[in-house]
Amino acid sequence: MDNIRKKLFFIHTYGCQMNEEDSEKLSGMLKLSGYEKTESKESADLIIFNTCCVRENAELKVFGNLWILKKAKEKNPNLIIAICGCMMQQKDMAQDIIKKFPFVDIIFGTHNAHMLTEYLNTVKQEGKSVIEIWDKEKEIVEGIPIDRGSGIKGFVTIMYGCNNFCTYCVVPYVRGRERSRNPEDIEKEIKELISKGYTEITLLGQNVNSYGKELSPNIDFADLLRRINKIDGIERIRFMTSHPKDLTFKVVEAIRDCEKVCEHIHLPVQSGSSSIIKKMNRHYTKEYYIDLIKKMKKEIPDLALTTDIIVGFPGETEEDFSETLDLVKQVEYDSVFMFLYSLRKGTPAAEMEDQISDEVKHERFNRLVDVVNEICAKKNKEYQGKIVEVLVEGTSKNDETKLMGRTRTSKLVNFTSDEDNIGKIVKVKITKANSFSLYGEEV
Ligand code: 5AD
Ligand code: SF4
Repeated sequence: MDNIRKKLFFIHTYGCQMNEEDSEKLSGMLKLSGYEKTESKESADLIIFNTCCVRENAELKVFGNLWILKKAKEKNPNLIIAICGCMMQQKDMAQDIIKKFPFVDIIFGTHNAHMLTEYLNTVKQEGKSVIEIWDKEKEIVEGIPIDRGSGIKGFVTIMYGCNNFCTYCVVPYVRGRERSRNPEDIEKEIKELISKGYTEITLLGQNVNSYGKELSPNIDFADLLRRINKIDGIERIRFMTSHPKDLTFKVVEAIRDCEKVCEHIHLPVQSGSSSIIKKMNRHYTKEYYIDLIKKMKKEIPDLALTTDIIVGFPGETEEDFSETLDLVKQVEYDSVFMFLYSLRKGTPAAEMEDQISDEVKHERFNRLVDVVNEICAKKNKEYQGKIVEVLVEGTSKNDETKLMGRTRTSKLVNFTSDEDNIGKIVKVKITKANSFSLYGEEV
């Protein structure tokens, strides 16, 4: 029986939504070549780690889990182990990994992920391991089958790479320069999703606001939003991530005018101190950012705002940090993703003097968490008594008798309703709120 059983693969994805999407493509390619997906590492014939290196702790997790795989390989020498993703694009990383973990069979990077099945054949037919990293991006490869999860919310990459070179960030080094997909390819993918029942689309890119810069005929992100808004069958359009320096008024107008584009912008500020923002090479000031927020709030009533903040960037003084606290209080974010600055080799910030001690970073981080939680609780309390539209995603994590979903403003809502409503948009009256979620009843 064993030799007619389909081969099983297991993928562990680290990091961001872009990596999730890449894993869905790896999964799509493997299914096409006869593999089946498993959620159990123990039963897998092929294990893939799709890695992230944006912060050190992501890398440490990969190393820790590789040690565990050593034992799995000893138990089952036929097991194939592949490692890919951003971490592999870093200088000398692939060589270091193969030295430390010689049992790894395949190593590839972000630019040659579409080659996975060829690499697998080499390992199986020639019994050789494959290490291949392309150091530069090539043309976008279209047509790779994507094996998606939930049939409700779909993610569609509109552009790859980043040209910004924020001084703390490895992404431009491991994901290459910006490349935008043709609008026709994006539309085609969205229509396929609609035909499978998806109702919400999130457009993905490291910096979606610079979409289309190198495309001809001319198209920019605002044009793309308007074009996608016209597609029948989508209920909601979201997008991530926006860089404040590239978010034009034309985009704000498109968000305002397009009824399917949700009233939520994720606009990473990283720091509230103009001098730190400058050292980060982000090309805006605290004043510019606050002014931009004011303009957006004026055009788009009920706009929800979320952001990313890095605590303890090199040279951050107590005064700089208090500028961040002040900005958070002024903007009143709906939610904030907070990170301790993590030194990334090869980035300019790694060479900067005045690296901040872990102790100071943690102490500031905790103070920021307190301020953010208070503000988010206040923002969420504003929803009490209101009736909101919720796209029902499934049953609630903590209480299976309840359903969960999100508002257009991306607020998580736990509420009582009928399970038949999963996948639909329902009206919910909010009865309770805390820092992280809302509670209510269908009306
Ligand atoms: N240290 C800490 N946080 C980082 N980010 C990117 N690079 C680093 C780093 N070296 C954060 C930024 C970015 C988010 C995706 O990750 O806030 O917006
Ligand atoms: Fe990194 Fe900055 Fe590009 Fe975002 S915009 S991916 S933080 S370099």
